[in-house]
Amino acid sequence: MMISESSFHHVASVISSTSRESVFGERYVGTTTETRHFTKTIVGASTDIRTLNIVLDEYVATDVPRLEASARETERFGLRVARLMVPVGCRHDDHELAAMCESAPFDLIFVRAPIERAGLGAELSRAAGREIRAVETLVYFEWDLAQSPSATQQQSFRFEAVVPFASLRSLIEESFAGYKNHYSANPLLSAAVTVDAYVEWAQTLLQGTSSRLLAACDKSSGDPIGFVLSSVVSDARSAEVVLNGVSPKRQREGVYAGLMTATAQRLRAEDGVLRLAISTQSTNFAVIEAWKKLGLRESLRLNTFHVSRA
Ligand SMILES: CC(C)(COP(=O)(O)OP(=O)(O)OC[C@H]1O[C@@H](n2cnc3c(N)ncnc32)[C@H](O)[C@@H]1OP(=O)(O)O)[C@@H](O)C(=O)NCCC(=O)NCCS
Repeated sequence: MMISESSFHHVASVISSTSRESVFGERYVGTTTETRHFTKTIVGASTDIRTLNIVLDEYVATDVPRLEASARETERFGLRVARLMVPVGCRHDDHELAAMCESAPFDLIFVRAPIERAGLGAELSRAAGREIRAVETLVYFEWDLAQSPSATQQQSFRFEAVVPFASLRSLIEESFAGYKNHYSANPLLSAAVTVDAYVEWAQTLLQGTSSRLLAACDKSSGDPIGFVLSSVVSDARSAEVVLNGVSPKRQREGVYAGLMTATAQRLRAEDGVLRLAISTQSTNFAVIEAWKKLGLRESLRLNTFHVSRA
């Protein structure tokens, strides 16, 4: 199966059509008093990328915390899972946020909040009938593309916007084998799902028109050895890298630096993107070093807590 029919500019949809059904009847949006209709998206057929943790603007462009069910993770774990996103300018105090978690009808809530909320963990742990785990810190970096990044030299690989999905899947599985994220930090959740989730994220994102893929392919074999998958927000002239990795067999050859630079150049030239965001676990020293070397700047840190039924 091919991911894309065209150039970097547009990734064609390759997966079956979207199917939706109502589930909880009510979706928690913002404060506990504001509700909207909620629709469940069937796993594997969704174009909804909100649950993919790629929406930096959720944390900076609003002051409203949002608690919403995650259909994808509910399906994945067989538990009623929700996400609570606490933006930087959130006016609710920690006690109110803990009360939202306490009263919400979910088995497991992934809470993401700026690290400046130093008391949130303690307040969440006071929520009745709930257990809390501090599972990771995410660090966001941004790349100002107004100054065009300079090209890097590449000798042993070339760039492709079209690769068979099977080879992208293998590359994701290889680059993220043993990778630790907030799922694997929680013994309630299977560590095996981490890589599967990344494959699923890539597949889901590639259904939409906002995704952009760039793969580095070995010049001799043609096999993909690294990739950067990003998502463009055209109105904001911004983009976010959703998933990126390099085959362990080809690391420290400059593949990633070359891919990131080429991605930045293409996003700017073809989509008018001026700001590129990217995030990882604060423990991912290798990629953070790569970003610093490329000239990206840290912009935000978020703590992730898992709040589950005791
Ligand atoms: C992080 C990753 C993408 C780097 O790919 P790569 O092709 O090896 O990176 P490059 O060769 O272009 O290295 C660029 C710079 O990054 C830094 N870097 C890369 N790997 C590093 C490591 N293991 N330790 C320290 N610094 C590292 C170095 O500064 C390096 O420059 P140098 O080689 O001149 O010292 C790769 O290790 C990987 O796929 N890791 C697993 C998946 C992952 O973490 N993906 C990113 C999630 S956000």
